[in-house]
Amino acid sequence: MHEILIVDYGSQYTPLLARRIREMGVFSRVVDNKRFDITKEARGVILSGGPQSVYDPGSLRLPESFDLIRVPTLGICYGMHLLVERLGGRISAGSGGEYGATMVGVDKDELFEGIPDKLKAWMSHGDSVESLSEDCEVIARSSRGIVAGIRKGLLRGLQFHPEVCHTECGNRILSNFVRGICKAEVNWSIEVLEKDLIEGIKRQAGEEKVIAGLSGGVDSSVAAVITSRAIGTNLTGVFVDHGLMRERESDEILSILRELRMNVRILDAKDLFFSRLEGVADPEQKRRVIGEAFIEVFEKEARRLGATVLLQGTIMSDVIESGSSSGTTDKIKSHHNVGGLPERMTLKLLEPLRQLFKDEVRLLGKSLGIPDAFLNRHPFPGPGLGVRVLGEVTPEKAKILQQADRIFLETLRNNEEDRSSWQAFAVLLPVSSVGVKGDRRSCGYVIALRAVDSSEGMTATSHEFPWYVLKEAASRIIGEIPQVSRVVYDLTDKPPATIEWE
Ligand code: XMP
Repeated sequence: MHEILIVDYGSQYTPLLARRIREMGVFSRVVDNKRFDITKEARGVILSGGPQSVYDPGSLRLPESFDLIRVPTLGICYGMHLLVERLGGRISAGSGGEYGATMVGVDKDELFEGIPDKLKAWMSHGDSVESLSEDCEVIARSSRGIVAGIRKGLLRGLQFHPEVCHTECGNRILSNFVRGICKAEVNWSIEVLEKDLIEGIKRQAGEEKVIAGLSGGVDSSVAAVITSRAIGTNLTGVFVDHGLMRERESDEILSILRELRMNVRILDAKDLFFSRLEGVADPEQKRRVIGEAFIEVFEKEARRLGATVLLQGTIMSDVIESGSSSGTTDKIKSHHNVGGLPERMTLKLLEPLRQLFKDEVRLLGKSLGIPDAFLNRHPFPGPGLGVRVLGEVTPEKAKILQQADRIFLETLRNNEEDRSSWQAFAVLLPVSSVGVKGDRRSCGYVIALRAVDSSEGMTATSHEFPWYVLKEAASRIIGEIPQVSRVVYDLTDKPPATIEWE
């Protein structure tokens, strides 16, 4: 299968490039700028943009071994600066900065086939091209006369971002590069991906025994099902029951995974997790403690099974939020499957879904026969209710929260509102609030209800439910859980808040 390699120099738009190209039916992968091989399947390379200047001390470079003649290459923004420099031209910081929508005039070139000679393009650069080597030509300029496109043989450079939807004809430009200049064949689909992943997993795992941490989330389940198709009983799924799952969730998840012919073991680790969480109130420490308890359980089980490889359901958005492969994108929050676990483990890592976006994972899951109801479940964080019981987590508080969460979700289902938001859940606040129940003064916990609209969880807006739905959930929670005296609804977007409260 042909592929296009996207070398990541830290632009926030890098993953979008991969997605746009896969949407065209051509496989593409994001690769690390320090370590990448031009595979025999590679038909072209795209050098992404990035936040640095080529003159910054220690700035990221093109590897010396990268042969510009052999493979068609498109440099975007910083990627173009790297090309220009390598070819003997100059980049300068002067007055060449352009930001946002900018008019660009383009010349005749295969890259601009079928698009008007003037278009609105999205710019975001401080440095610009000052001079080019003799054999390099300018093929586009911005309305301020700044070089916006270059050509030399099979190399192209663009100062603007064709992958961003604000650039007119951006998809056509990318397709001209991928299909016209690189001559990549359109033969990528979810079915091809499935076959390819299975072969890749077989190659990587060989005869070794693999252990999969199952959280009940979509990503870890899809990763486990596809790996089990590849290596059968050499994979053991381990479902750690830490007491921080939603009510009855563990049973539901297990029965679905077993229906999918997965080899799954359930490990009861409730006592271990609750004892480690005793007296821990700081959110980051809590995440650490939960991560460490997972490691302990996995390592013990791996030794028992003789497993040497750990399977994880890491996907592209986890990688982005935890800091990209280039090491230059800002870290937002260390997600469990990227930050906490692997560094401290002796096990080798297998992460077959690392290049995929959530919607692609869902399509893959569907093609593997996983039921829709399971694939479309709301996201659930690795540390579970541990980050939704604010402050110290105790079995008593976890139980109260499980009840409140179940009542909230039941109310949404009864009112056909369970699919209207992207994620909905309850949070237990560590405060005591006064109320009156049955003419008696009562004191109890406060439950916050939270629901958001989002696509990848990186940004989110608070969801607007009909008022009567929220009132019904609040009145049931107060009525059915004696320890709760008040219910509130969270109206904050992300940013400035995050989706989870901790
Ligand atoms: P935040 O709170 O970062 O959440 O806005 C964004 C999305 O990620 C989920 N989340 C996690 N998922 N491990 C996970 O697998 C984690 O440590 C973790 N923390 C947050 C959260 O539920 C939301 O969907």
